[in-house]
Amino acid sequence: MRTVAVVGTVVDDRITGRDGTTRGSLGGIAYSVGALSALAGSEVRILPVCRVGTDLLARLTRHWSGLEGVELDGLVAHDGPNTRIELDYRHGASGGDRRERLASPMPPLQERDLAVARSADSVLVNCITGFDLRLEALEELAECTAPIHLDFHSLALGMLGDGTRVPRSPQRAARWIATADLLQCNKFEMARIAGTDCLVAKTIATILDGGPQAVVVTASARGSILHLADQPESVTIIAPPVNVLDPTGAGDTFGAAMVVARLRGEGWAAAARYASLAASASCLLAGCEGLARLPEAMSAVGSG
Ligand SMILES: Nc1ncnc2c1ncn2[C@@H]1O[C@H](COP(=O)(O)OP(=O)(O)OP(=O)(O)O)[C@@H](O)[C@H]1O
Ligand SMILES: [Mg+2]
Repeated sequence: MRTVAVVGTVVDDRITGRDGTTRGSLGGIAYSVGALSALAGSEVRILPVCRVGTDLLARLTRHWSGLEGVELDGLVAHDGPNTRIELDYRHGASGGDRRERLASPMPPLQERDLAVARSADSVLVNCITGFDLRLEALEELAECTAPIHLDFHSLALGMLGDGTRVPRSPQRAARWIATADLLQCNKFEMARIAGTDCLVAKTIATILDGGPQAVVVTASARGSILHLADQPESVTIIAPPVNVLDPTGAGDTFGAAMVVARLRGEGWAAAARYASLAASASCLLAGCEGLARLPEAMSAVGSG
């Protein structure tokens, strides 16, 4: 059976919706892992590689032990509180439609923490906080043969003194991106990778010259655009329309579904269409726990 390693940070999320109500939830790579399990838990081993704080360990172990395909050998116990992220959808300060604040960040994963991912058939790196892992550790992992799917995410965010995340031009972006087979980012993150000159098309061409075979730029309800190293024309991927219940984790679901489709042998465009259907459907489900019903939600969206 093949193995997907999911590298990043699991977080204790506090989400305040547009109506002002706040709920706690497992977040970060818990979305990627939940989506992978729902889509392919019977056909792949899913190996989360992340630190877990003492306050989250029992809850997380219970949750992941109940998900098909998930194995816990890659967990690294952290002697202290787990990273927390407060997401507030009533305000936007992070370059999107929400304000994000980081509390008690755990130290980045080191080379030795990633050793379990070296024999994986596919590696999904999801930069949930931007402090998830050392670049040098990822570069060492990239020497192994498995393709790396890199979700750029918070590498494009800086942080104020109180933990509030703010847009910034990412540091050492070219080195992070060169480790990847596929780079996933949303349109805000791509604008920051492109920098002040905002030459997105030129930036994407440079990225595709530097290692990655594909770049996918997502744009929420407007779908996504796939750029390929071996094809001059980009491919526009439509997002099936949905009545959004919870948009958190749509990008994570997109990445997880893309990895599953590629492992099944799909081409880039077919994989991105599958990922788009899965990501739209994820907006109908609440929290990472809701992702267990992802296949049903995809059927409903696909036939709608
Ligand atoms: N409102 C929506 N309606 C339909 N599909 C959506 C919607 N929001 C997101 N999606 C789907 O999810 C994909 C990823 O969404 P988005 O561009 O918001 O990613 P993101 O900013 O990385 O999200 P995340 O908050 O998970 O990091 C989109 O390309 C689309 O396929
Ligand atoms: Mg994202």
